[in-house]
Amino acid sequence: MGENQFFSLQGQVAVVTGGGQEIGAGIARRLSAAGARVAILDLNEANARAVAGPLGGLGLRCDVSSAAEVERALGEVGREFGGIQILVNNAGIAGKTAPLWELEERDLDQVYAVNLKGVFLMCRAVIRHMLERGYGRIVNVASIAGKEGNPTLIPYSSTKAAVIALTKALAKEVAGKGDITVNSISPAVVRTKILDTIPQSTIDYMVSRIPMGRTGKIEEVAALVHYLVSREASFTTGQCYDISGGRATY
Ligand SMILES: NC(=O)c1ccc[n+]([C@@H]2O[C@H](COP(=O)([O-])OP(=O)(O)OC[C@H]3O[C@@H](n4cnc5c(N)ncnc54)[C@H](O)[C@@H]3O)[C@@H](O)[C@H]2O)c1
Repeated sequence: MGENQFFSLQGQVAVVTGGGQEIGAGIARRLSAAGARVAILDLNEANARAVAGPLGGLGLRCDVSSAAEVERALGEVGREFGGIQILVNNAGIAGKTAPLWELEERDLDQVYAVNLKGVFLMCRAVIRHMLERGYGRIVNVASIAGKEGNPTLIPYSSTKAAVIALTKALAKEVAGKGDITVNSISPAVVRTKILDTIPQSTIDYMVSRIPMGRTGKIEEVAALVHYLVSREASFTTGQCYDISGGRATY
């Protein structure tokens, strides 16, 4: 294999949720540069199209918390591009930032619907086809919050912990049934628009706990995802990959 073919995704179809901006857009661009045809599913259709257009990809509106919207969007990807080899579940929201005693029931429900149910619905819709074809790569974007638990971010932290566990369980369900892997990643703070919804005091807390003393970069996250969705990453499944400047302690 020539060096230029390392981690090639030529001939593969990749779906990236929440790819209309920031980390998801960075992942979509990286997978496209490696040869994949990319479909971006995002609540914001204009952003999804704006990112997908220059990549020759597909940008679709989809609320990942709705089973009907997930089925409809993936049906369109199938009609346009054919079978899906790669799924990156990146869509996520921070939700309300407050101590537990100031949270309403709906604050929890809203974050669970997007961050956890969204990953469940997307995986469920795609995994059967991966099993039929005996090949697939899934990466779920969790967070260091799911390992460490960030104060004032209980809905967010607990959904991300659940995503790590969903990943481990699904990986075992499909292990040995073809070349299918399911992994998650746990980034620490990356300067993106999601931080606009989080008070500076909480951001300062999170950054102060990163041993490298800096925030992560979108390109660094995209590079890790690229490796995990490549054919070469075939003996690694059910893992949560740290990308936190050393913050993760396990
Ligand atoms: N930025 C960070 O510091 C950080 C750290 C760890 C993990 N993460 C995770 O990385 C992922 C991307 O984060 P980001 O910083 O790029 O956030 P962002 O807010 O900039 O982008 C999130 C994208 O998801 C889309 N989205 C939101 N709800 C959706 C829904 N219901 N259906 C479909 N799309 C939806 C938004 O429209 C947006 O395009 C998230 O899962 C986030 O939790 C981010």
